[in-house]
Amino acid sequence: MNALQEPVDVSGRRDKPKARTGAAGTECAGTGQAKIELRNLRQVFYVKNRGSRKLEEFTALEDFSLDVDQGEFVTIVGPSGCGKSTLLDIVSGLVPPKSGEIIINGRRITGPALDRGFIMQGYALLPWRTVRKNIAYGLEVKHIPFRERPRIIQKYIRLVGLEGFEERYPNELSGGMRQRVAIARSLAYDPELLLMDEPFSAVDAQTRETLQDELLRIWEKTRKTIIFITHSIDEAVLLADRVVVMTASPGRVKKIIPINLPRPRTAADMRVSADFPWITHSIWELLQNGGSGEERQLPGDGRSVAGEIAPDTVL
Ligand SMILES: Nc1ncnc2c1ncn2[C@@H]1O[C@H](COP(=O)(O)OP(=O)(O)O)[C@@H](O)[C@H]1O
Ligand SMILES: [Mg+2]
Repeated sequence: MNALQEPVDVSGRRDKPKARTGAAGTECAGTGQAKIELRNLRQVFYVKNRGSRKLEEFTALEDFSLDVDQGEFVTIVGPSGCGKSTLLDIVSGLVPPKSGEIIINGRRITGPALDRGFIMQGYALLPWRTVRKNIAYGLEVKHIPFRERPRIIQKYIRLVGLEGFEERYPNELSGGMRQRVAIARSLAYDPELLLMDEPFSAVDAQTRETLQDELLRIWEKTRKTIIFITHSIDEAVLLADRVVVMTASPGRVKKIIPINLPRPRTAADMRVSADFPWITHSIWELLQNGGSGEERQLPGDGRSVAGEIAPDTVL
């Protein structure tokens, strides 16, 4: 099977009519999943450079456009400092872009809202609250009726495998468990979109695999729309329907790679997959050398690598 051969039009969209919801701006609220359109996003910061007293404009993100389908799992990789976190801050509504638009379910967004769950690297749990009360937080903010809360909390505690740890405080948990609490908290208030910024980078390799498998399992069940940033190519390919590769700063979309590996997937499946190594290698090449699209052979495979992700296949 060639996992990269699915046709993609110039906007980087997968050619899958079933995933389409109609013209841009079509309302699709109420599905529990969001459709996202990012249009020409640009972000600048004003920074002081050495030897200069004046603030100078620094462009962190340039002309970044991307459509994400309802229920799609999109991962984003790019060199450190290319603007990945900047992008996610903008999509969350926490920081307005210098220019460009974010359209979620046909509506232009101008600020943060509970339709977006944000999961960061640093867990961001409330240290004075137990696991149960951390998960309850989103429900309180969303004014979910008091009597409904225990059932919802227990459901998500079960989903992330934290039964028995409900009354622990964050400092009594391992990094992997804290990250599970953060995931449960975000899922519990039922956002349509999950934004994840290198959420597993602070945990050890084994825990990371467990969390990846859990996230995949949860996604299979809930089909939330997910934008997931990572600096691990393996993680990006394992999780994604499409991998967005960004350029170095200022960040733009360099290429979008559809990943058609069969689902459901697990990290262990990927280790024995014939396609996984050459897909990850192709992305590695894109990040290393600018992804010229030159024909190359993988040792012992005989298959064209960069040719598979040539410009007619990806954006
Ligand atoms: N608040 C800020 N002020 C000035 N520069 C910033 C700010 N936030 C990010 N940057 C700069 O913008 C670039 C992109 O940062 P970031 O989005 O954090 O990168 P990434 O997440 O891809 O590693 C970096 O060069 C960073 O130094
Ligand atoms: Mg970052």
